[in-house]
Amino acid sequence: MNPVKHVAIIMDGNGRWGIKYKKSRNLGHRAGLKTVEKIIKSTIKNKIKHLTLYAFSTENWKRPKSEINFLFTLLDTFIDQKIDEFNKQNIKLKIIGNINILNNKLKKKLKRSENITKKNNRLQVNLALNYGSKSELINAFKQIKKNKQNINSKNIEKNLYTSSIPDPDILIRTGNTNRLSNFLLWQMAYSEIFFEKKLWPDFNENDYNKILKKFKKIKRNYGNI
Ligand code: FPP
Repeated sequence: MNPVKHVAIIMDGNGRWGIKYKKSRNLGHRAGLKTVEKIIKSTIKNKIKHLTLYAFSTENWKRPKSEINFLFTLLDTFIDQKIDEFNKQNIKLKIIGNINILNNKLKKKLKRSENITKKNNRLQVNLALNYGSKSELINAFKQIKKNKQNINSKNIEKNLYTSSIPDPDILIRTGNTNRLSNFLLWQMAYSEIFFEKKLWPDFNENDYNKILKKFKKIKRNYGNI
């Protein structure tokens, strides 16, 4: 049986769900946030130590301004409402991605949230915000060059946002779309990938448990036989 240390998720399909049921993409994002809460609880129940959620990519800036604003307001409110509960539940929050370009107030709030939860160790929720794998790798190479180090796996990994995080065992992408969308490309070299037809707001604990059960039966070879 494979142990699961880390699950990464591309939470796709909010917009389509919103149009289908509520006539607005933004209400799909709001519904998606409810799924986030449920999946965090299930991850704890399953004793998994890392959950990485792709909340906003470096490419998502191409979306209409109104949708971008809605997503960041949703995040802001989520942090206000949930950070104390995260702390009580012994959950550590870590942001991966370049948050320097966010407004100062939100940036400070995110840093503060990381700081007050930094000693927690039941579950680490890694929230990918303005995250892109290619720019993460370019930054890592730049850092290595600046420090006149050798280019090798160890030095590359040391310079990624995920330096202290084990590679994902599992990637789940909901929304019936089979691509990686610039997410954790280095880290997922050997992850088991599960593409799920359901849209993210419809994804539930039962679907999650089915994937975890399937994963446990997979023989992971890492290039061996
Ligand atoms: C992809 O669906 C989803 C996003 C770009 C945003 C994900 C955000 C949430 C789940 C809510 C906010 C989360 C936090 C943690 C504050 P899409 O909009 O690309 O869906 P589509 O393919 O149907 O258009």
